[in-house]
This record gives sequence, C-alpha cells and structure tokens, in this order.
Amino acid sequence: MSELPNHRKMRFKAKRLGRTACAAAGLAAFLSASVASALPAESDPLAPSGQFTIYRGADAALTPPMGWNPWNAFRTEVDEAKIRGSAQALVSTGLAANGYRYVNIDDGWALRRLADGRLKIRTSMFPSAESGDKETGSFIPFVDYLHGLGLKAGLYTDIGANTCAQRWDPDSENLPEGTVAERQVGSMDHVEQDMKTIFGKWKFDYIKIDACGVADYGADSDPVTSGKYAAYAPDIVREDIAASKPNAVEARYAALGNAILASGNPEAVLSICAWGEALSPLWGHMRGNLWRTSPDIEFTWKSMWRNVDMTIDAPLYAGPGRWNDPDMLAVGHGDFDENHITEARSHLSLWAIMAAPLLLGFDLRNAPQSIIDLVGNREMIAIDQDPLGNQGVAYRNGDVMTVVRVLAGEGQRAVALVNRSETPQSASVSWDQLGLATGSEATVRDVWEHRTLSPARDSITVELAPHQTMLFRIAGKAANPDALALDQMPARINVAVDGLGVAQALPVGQFPARVNALPDGKPIVADGKTLHGIGGFANSRFELRAQGEFNRFQATPMVASGKVPVRFRVFADRQPVADVVVAPGKRGKIDAQISGANIVELVALAQPGKGRPPMIAWASSSLNK
Ligand code: GAL
Repeated sequence: MSELPNHRKMRFKAKRLGRTACAAAGLAAFLSASVASALPAESDPLAPSGQFTIYRGADAALTPPMGWNPWNAFRTEVDEAKIRGSAQALVSTGLAANGYRYVNIDDGWALRRLADGRLKIRTSMFPSAESGDKETGSFIPFVDYLHGLGLKAGLYTDIGANTCAQRWDPDSENLPEGTVAERQVGSMDHVEQDMKTIFGKWKFDYIKIDACGVADYGADSDPVTSGKYAAYAPDIVREDIAASKPNAVEARYAALGNAILASGNPEAVLSICAWGEALSPLWGHMRGNLWRTSPDIEFTWKSMWRNVDMTIDAPLYAGPGRWNDPDMLAVGHGDFDENHITEARSHLSLWAIMAAPLLLGFDLRNAPQSIIDLVGNREMIAIDQDPLGNQGVAYRNGDVMTVVRVLAGEGQRAVALVNRSETPQSASVSWDQLGLATGSEATVRDVWEHRTLSPARDSITVELAPHQTMLFRIAGKAANPDALALDQMPARINVAVDGLGVAQALPVGQFPARVNALPDGKPIVADGKTLHGIGGFANSRFELRAQGEFNRFQATPMVASGKVPVRFRVFADRQPVADVVVAPGKRGKIDAQISGANIVELVALAQPGKGRPPMIAWASSSLNK
C-alpha cells in the first residue's frame, strides 16, 4: 500500500506551483520562475524520469496473451477433465502452434482457506490435486501436464477477501465451503503467501486478479446480510468514480504485482480484472500486463460494441508488456457462433486491430471446424501479435469505423473497415490516415479471404454488408521513412502523468490522452486544417521511447482550450532541450536536438485553476533521424 500513483501526486504539485506563482506576482513570474531552474525538483511527477515508467514485469507479455479460459463456456461448472480436454484440443487443432498457449483456470477452484492461511484446492473438481500436500492438495501435477503439452498455466484470485462467483453465482455447487473466514478464498491479507504458492510452488505462469471482493460485499449487500460473508466497505462502486477509491484499488494491485515479482517467476503475467472501474485503464500500465477496460462481455453484438467503444480510444496506454483488455472472446457463442461468421470475423478483427488479448472461451472439445478456422487465421493472429504492439487508431464516420494500425516493417500497416449497422455501408481509408506517401501504390491483402487484391493508390474504398468487417494488411511506401510521427507510434508513448486528479476524471471509456484527437474526442485543428498528433491536458508528462534512433524532435505545441498559457518543455534523457510558452488558442514551434536519446519526455505545464487544466496537443510532432 506504499506507492502513491503519480497522477495523485501531480495534483498536489500543480497546486503548489500555482501558489508559488501567485505569491511571486502573477503569470509572468509563474512562467519565468519555472524557467529559472533547469530541471523541476526530483520529487515533482512532472520532472523528467529518464525512463519508460511501466509495470516492472512488462517483459512477461511482450505481445498480447493468447489462450483459453473456461469461464465463457462453463462458468463454475468446470472440472479438470473439461480443461484437460480443451488443452489437448488446443494442441490437436493446431491452435497452440498458432499462439494460443495460456490455459487459465477461472473462478471456482478454491474450496477453503485453512487456519494457517493456505488455500485448499477443490479436489472433486481437480482430482489430480489429490496428490502432494494432504491438507491443501497440489496443482503441480496439473501444471506439469499443461507444461508437458507445451502450454502455459493460469489461475484466478481476487484482490478482496471473496470472489465474484460467491457474489454473482450464489446457487453454484462449486462455491467455497466452511465458516465465513474459511470461505475467504480471495487474496486480501494473503498476498505474499498466495503468490508464493501460486508462482513459486505450483509454477503457474499467469494470474487473473478479479475485484468483486472490494466491490460487492458492502454491509447492505445480499451476501453480507445473509450472514455468509463479512462486510467490506467497497473501494469500487460500479460506474461511480466519485464514490470509489481508485488509489486504494491501485495500491492493492501494486502490492500484488510486487508479490508476484518477488515470487520467483520472471514470466508471470498479471491480468487486472476491475472491469474498467476505479480508473484502472489509466493506471493499469504501471501495475500489470493487461487490464480490463469494460464489464463482462455478453454474447451479443451490442455487448461486444460496448466493450470496443470503451477500449478503442486508448492506444496510448498499450504496448509491449501492457495491454488494454476488452475481455475474453465471445466467439463460438450467441451472436458469434458458427451461424454468425460475419459477426465472429468482425469481433476477431476488432480484437486484432486493438492488440487485445485473444482468450478463447468456447468448449474446444466440441467446436465446429468453421470456428476453429476463424480463430486460427494466422494472418489475423499476426496482426494481433505484431511485435511493435501499436494499438490501432480509430476514425469514426457514423456507423462505419476505420481503424489503422502501424505494423513492424517499413510501410506495413493493417486496417479494419467496420460496419456496425444493419444496412450496407461504404467505408474507406486514406494514405494520410495510414501515413503512406501521397501518390504511391500499395499492395492490399484481404486477411479473411486470404487474397491479394489489385494494388491501390491514395485510398481504399469498400462496400460492407451489415455487421461486416474487412481486415487488410497493406504494404506501401511510408510518407517519410526518416521521421516517426507520434500518431504512428502509440506503443512507444507512455502516459506517465495525465494532468487529471480523481476529482477531475473523465467518464469511464474516455481517455485523457488521445491519438489524433483532443481528450473531448474532437480533432486537432489549426487554421481549419486537421492535424495529426497527440492530444491531452496540460500538467501532463508523456514518455517517448526513442531508443537512440533519432536526432531531432519536431512539434507544433497547441493550446486548445482554457484561458491560460501553457509552457511546453521537452527533455532528452532528462536534459532540457526545448521550452516554449504558448498562449490560449495559439500554437508554437519546437525543433530540438535530441542526439540519439533513449527517452524523450514531453511536459506541458499550466497554472492551475478550477476544474480540468487546458486541453493541449503535440500536433504535427515527430522523432526524426
Ligand atoms: C468476473 C470476471 C469474469 C469471471 C467472473 C468469475 O468479475 O469479469 O471474467 O472471471 O468474474 O466469477
């Protein structure tokens, strides 16, 4: 519970800056006082870090995790035979060879917590756990079995004292047993002990950490009034940030992450499951490898879109080691079953273009071949797993969405053209959106039809059936091979400080730092022209991974709202290299030497006032060779 998240500290600092400035006689003093010192104080979260400040265990998931989880197929009606059968099917269908390698046990496996704090496995569900320790049972045989198949093993717990099934599946026969204390199988107060057992002893590779224990056991809730569960004053009140305690939730996940890192498995993946609540999509990148951005997916077109809409504007939070998670795949069920191949393709295309984890959730032992073929499409998987890890950037046009993603290799792009409506629509993508040279030709590969189309020039327009998505891989000529525009490199950007405190937070699903948009969703516009770039709030700090590959940084810093000027500063490996003050509604120019810096940082400072700081943009900005 020790680490304070950066955005919290930042507000504090912003206030302090404001007071100093006023005392020193107003605006001019505020602006020049900050110029006087070359570097802001060390303790200032807006001071350059010289680092890429993400979860320390990022290396465990350099591409989005892929695998299978029984929850969508079986909920708590799961047993070892079903899981082993699905694991075997992953191998025999070839899906494992195509990347689906995590087999993750979900809720329902824990029978009780013993007096000494150890967890007892439900051996009626996992007969192989009978071996080993008599009192607790052991997952070692089961994990060995998965490892023997070349797969990885995942488990489930909760950051609270109780899990989600205990709240939401009260009639299940697979709920923990015993006294109130014995039924507390969540990891609260047992963080180190549980992580040591799960990773150190049982050798799991992945953990999903749910959050119902800190959300659903308030004094008035059914589970508590029934006398079966202890009350916990909720840290998460769903869809109500003001009533929630984001700091407390973040601190709990931070402690879990530390315990996992100390447990001895450097490849342990941490999946945060707080359904987009408690601002988890804004701090997840510092605390885990993936984090849910939305509620549980249901097997409907509408539910799938709710989760897309809550995730699609967050490319600046994802990258190698840290992924937005719009939930496990609903493919194989309901609106995405073998009778709905169009919808299933759209669902997969959207997850792939968003660099989302691909976790299958249907019964693989009895799956139609058509569904196995869809999820096994290697060209789709290659887009999802592209090593650069850029999440696609979306352009909306009514019911049509165009999502573009920069892939590894010069001029390589993916685009999803999506029709979410019930009527045919035409959709297009331009070379400007793709960052390809005007007038140049590109080859276009249809990922679902496995066909190379005739080359295109300057734009592509397609006709889409209702609910259809076309997913293309494009190989073209980069607009400027010597420059990397910020909107083409979201995975190299880390939102270290976003400028907003909890009290100023945007509603869930809206993000304070955006690609090619301001935080309010409007485009970045100057003199009637739409510019590419990164939008955000002042009092923010963005870290760029330049990796020694560039020598200059060019930008057009803009102040898009508010009544105060903003000071834009650029640092190259912590050294100040540019400093520009821009008046409200105006823009400035930056052309700075960064001489092979590893980390470039962009800081925007405004005198604090009431409410949110001004919206700013780093427009037309690029790292240049
Ligand atoms: C939910 C979670 C689901 C599943 C379930 C288990 O909170 O989002 O994915 O794990 O709990 O009870």
